[in-house]
Parts: sequence; C-alpha cells; structure tokens
Amino acid sequence: MKHRIARLIEAQEPWAKPLGETAQGWLATAFARTRPAKDLLNGVWLGHPLHPLLTDVPVGALTTALLLDLAGERRAADLAVCAGVLGMAASAASGAADAVDAYGRPQAQATVHATVMSASLAAYVGSLALRAAGPASRTTAVALAMLGYGAMAAGAYVGGELVFRSGNMVDRHAWRGGGAKWRALDVAEVPEGQPVAARLESDRLVLVREGEMIHALHDTCAHAGGPLHEGQLVDGCIECPWHGSRFRISDGRVVRGPAVYDQPRFEVRRTEAGLEARLAPQSAD
Ligand code: FES
Repeated sequence: MKHRIARLIEAQEPWAKPLGETAQGWLATAFARTRPAKDLLNGVWLGHPLHPLLTDVPVGALTTALLLDLAGERRAADLAVCAGVLGMAASAASGAADAVDAYGRPQAQATVHATVMSASLAAYVGSLALRAAGPASRTTAVALAMLGYGAMAAGAYVGGELVFRSGNMVDRHAWRGGGAKWRALDVAEVPEGQPVAARLESDRLVLVREGEMIHALHDTCAHAGGPLHEGQLVDGCIECPWHGSRFRISDGRVVRGPAVYDQPRFEVRRTEAGLEARLAPQSAD
C-alpha cells in the first residue's frame, strides 16, 4: 500500500516538473522584489520553517468544521470553514516561499502537494459561497466541504513525503553531534578576505580570515547542502551560491533565507603543527 502511494506520487512527475518550473519562474520574479517578505514566509525570523506551523490552522479548523457540519451546527461550521480558508491562504503563501527553491524530486512533490491543496481550497471556497447562498444549497455545500477535506488529507500526505522522505527544508546538520576535540585542518594558510575550503577529517569547512582572526563555518549549507566556499562575502556574511542564503561568518547566524537554521560554527587555533579546529558551542540566544 505505502509503496503504491509513493509510486503514484512519483508518477506525477511528467506533468508536475514542467508546471513546477513555470510556477517557480513566476514566484522567483515576485520574491526577487520582496526578499524580506520571502524571509518572513520562510521563517528565518523564527529559526524554523513557518509553513508547518501555519498548516495546523486549516487542518484544525476544517476538521472542526467537518464535525460541526455532521452535528448540524450550521453557523459554527461556517465560521470554522472561514477560518480554515484563511489558514489555507496563509499556508499557501509560506509554502510557495519554500517551494521556489526546491529542485529535483522535492520540486515535483511540492508541485503535486500545491496542486492538490489548491483543489481543496477551491472546494472550500465553493462551499463557502454555497453556504452564503442560503439553506437550499446546504447539502451541496457540505458535500463540497467533504471533498475538500479529502483533498486536504491527500495533500498533507504528499507534504509529509516532501519533508520526511525527501528532506525538503530539513536542517542539513540535524544529526551533527557535539565533539569538542581539536582536529587538524588540511590547509596551512588562509588568504585574507577570501573563502577557502578545508578538510577537518570527514567534515569540510569554509574558512575566512580577517586579520589574525580565522572564522570557520561548516561548508555544507543548512538549507539544501550548497558549497559555501564557492559563495561570496557580503556585509560580513557568506552567501550560498545555490539560493542566496547568508550566514554571518563570525557566528554562523542565518541573516537571509531560504535557510532558516544557523550554520555550525567552528573555532580555529594555530599550533606548531598547523591549523586546528573544533565545533564551537552553540550560543543560547
Ligand atoms: S543550498 Fe539553498 S541557500 Fe544554500
């Protein structure tokens, strides 16, 4: 059963991929002019993707509406549908901000998810219109809401695949352990003001020297794994070459999305044997 569902989602790729690419083109143009709004919708300010938080609103409201409809509580059910529709619109905006930077399998899955959720939203908007039209269309309104609920559940399943199977918007450093041991870096020197990649055993870091100070962050971008050492330095930050996330080189803080997680920071010291680094403790604030 579960494999059949996964295959069914994958089978949508022939139409989902081109549709997703077209939508991404439009969204990228819109978000390029409103970067702070995109950061807000990604959840950079929250340190966590905003989309899963917002989706709780329609799921809760529309489940409540379904039960109230079944109980014959018309006015309360209509209000719950209103809340659900507003929640769906807000969720769609945050989902679009995340999906614009997806590629490969996550991009196709995000398109399927968005398409099914749009069908659900359309059903609920239609249901609301019929509810407003009066008691004569009540049965159709409730039936449409039930269809919308089914589509929402299916869309939520695809959204789960997108995150839990494909790892979209998951912190690339989620499983990174502590480890305060100093380890040798494989570079002897770091030129001033220029990002340099360096091996720290199995890890790769990006190093930036400012005078005597050498800053080090993990080289794998927390958003989707971009190589930070190929990025450029902008206002004390390193900018990821893939989707433009910016991390402060002094402490790894994310200051621009789509990444919402900070970048692991490393301390660097000079010894007689050469440069060494270790994972820095995370600051509490
Ligand atoms: S991989 Fe997406 S911003 Fe770095």
